[in-house]
Amino acid sequence: MASVPSLASTLDQRITDALSAAVPEAGVVDPLLRRSDRADFQANGMLALAKKLKGNPRELAAKVVEGLPAGDVIKDVEVSGPGFLNITVADGAITRTLAARAADDRLGVPFKERPGTTVVDWAQPNVAKEMHVGHLRNTVIGNSVVRLLEFTGEKVVSRHHIGDWGTQFGMLIQFLIEHPHELDHKAEGEDAVSGEEAMSNLNRLYKASRALFDSDEEFKARARRRVVDLQAGDEETLALWQKFVDESKIYFYSVFDKLDVEIRDEDIVGESGYNDMLAETCRMLEESGVAVRSEGALCVFFDDVKGPEGNPVPLIVQKSDGGFGYAATDLSAIRDRVFNLKADTLLYVVDSRQSLHFKMVFETARRAGWLTEGTAAVQLGFGTVLGKDGKPFKTREGETVRLVDLLDEAIERAGAVVREKARDLSEEEIAERAAQVGIGAVKYADLSTSAARDYKFDLDQMVSLNGDTSVYLQYAYARIQSILRKAGEAGPVAHPELALAPAERALGLHLDQFAATVAEAAGEYAPHKLAGYLYQLASLYTTFYDQCPVLKAESAEAVENRLFLCGLTARTLHQGMALLGIRTPERL
Ligand code: ARG
Repeated sequence: MASVPSLASTLDQRITDALSAAVPEAGVVDPLLRRSDRADFQANGMLALAKKLKGNPRELAAKVVEGLPAGDVIKDVEVSGPGFLNITVADGAITRTLAARAADDRLGVPFKERPGTTVVDWAQPNVAKEMHVGHLRNTVIGNSVVRLLEFTGEKVVSRHHIGDWGTQFGMLIQFLIEHPHELDHKAEGEDAVSGEEAMSNLNRLYKASRALFDSDEEFKARARRRVVDLQAGDEETLALWQKFVDESKIYFYSVFDKLDVEIRDEDIVGESGYNDMLAETCRMLEESGVAVRSEGALCVFFDDVKGPEGNPVPLIVQKSDGGFGYAATDLSAIRDRVFNLKADTLLYVVDSRQSLHFKMVFETARRAGWLTEGTAAVQLGFGTVLGKDGKPFKTREGETVRLVDLLDEAIERAGAVVREKARDLSEEEIAERAAQVGIGAVKYADLSTSAARDYKFDLDQMVSLNGDTSVYLQYAYARIQSILRKAGEAGPVAHPELALAPAERALGLHLDQFAATVAEAAGEYAPHKLAGYLYQLASLYTTFYDQCPVLKAESAEAVENRLFLCGLTARTLHQGMALLGIRTPERL
């Protein structure tokens, strides 16, 4: 049965169909196609196929060439080396394939065949604490991965595992009890506080209570007792704790808003959300023997996790004083995500410095039977943001850099770039573009190298118009939109009968790789692969634009066909950038 290419067939699929038809005895052939410099594609699959059919690869390749059905996909094919095929596709096939993709809202990106449920743990700041550059990464990478997964049809549940529990709350709450009016700003009639104000209130309280905690033994004792009340669920204590959480959320949302990242309140399930499960989690681990008592603490041991002296370092699920820590919470969260949310994949977008923690937590959950063969648990660990000197990013005074300061500076720098280029933009438009360009620049710099690597935070480079930056991509998009506006009567129409110039072919072949790139980036949790694709797309477009006049092309059909290529490039850039969480303004 001849396979009918679906609407969204890629050139790769069309070539595969043609090759398979040439050797019907082999079933569906996997030609192992890759883009090549010699021709459009090289097929290396004849070698494996010859082995399977017990034949000579060169002879098989020649037979395939011979048996190729007359069609309009492959224009030229030759056998090379031990049995490779160098394949050149017909210009018309490129245009026709792209036209089919252009007719699709999703640009021909198929849904995953067997979508599942992935719970993504991302954007997890800590209550009563300032957000820093590390939180930039778990927010930006997480946001893009969620968008990529959702686009492939995966069901995604976000979990923002904020640090909203722990001993420091005893100190904060006790201080507030003794200084009751410190957080009373939302008196009636008063305007709601801004994120900045909320954070400065929290900072002030944190500093004051810390100072008291360190200097006053009696306060320290009261603060410690307050932790016990909190964990026991004492109502007054919980109400005050809630005040800290609410105040922090005002601040978090202001930062997420600046970052242009949407967070839903129901997805914020912090450490406190698992409080009711902790004792049970520990009991189950102890009863099954997965965890054992050691010096009063409940511990899980691993053969391959040892300290510097060679002695085993356990995962502590319950401390000897009865308190539960980070591990107990994460183990309880796994139970919730697997059994209540029905996840088949758990993804954690968390700093690589927590890798040992997750390795031990996942292994413990496997031993306990909470993670089974059908459930994957993956940490998408990310590297450190470095300063220009290559050391972890710090202020001149050696303090951690506040995320907001960094974002404000990026927006300011972007404003200067936008202003310089802007011809007919109002002040209001300049401000809006500055935010889109500045935040885009920060996100793109973070997403364009593989997450695991450290990268240097260099604003000069990030807002540069040349090179691998979001601004470059945004300008490519805006430039196309301006051409499309100027086209007037002429519209984008695909003309498969037209021959293509080399720059058009290169652009067209790359456009056709969008679906495969999205699938790869989503499947590997690797937004940088999409970023690399988009950068190359913008570069190929620039070459096309330099070499092929669009509105002054030689015929009306050629104008339409080039407008078609422009339009599809713009839509691909727009969709691709959206998957990275970056805006593409219509005018810049
Ligand atoms: N709040 C933590 C931090 O700021 C990150 C939480 C990561 N998620 C988790 N399930 N442990 O470092």
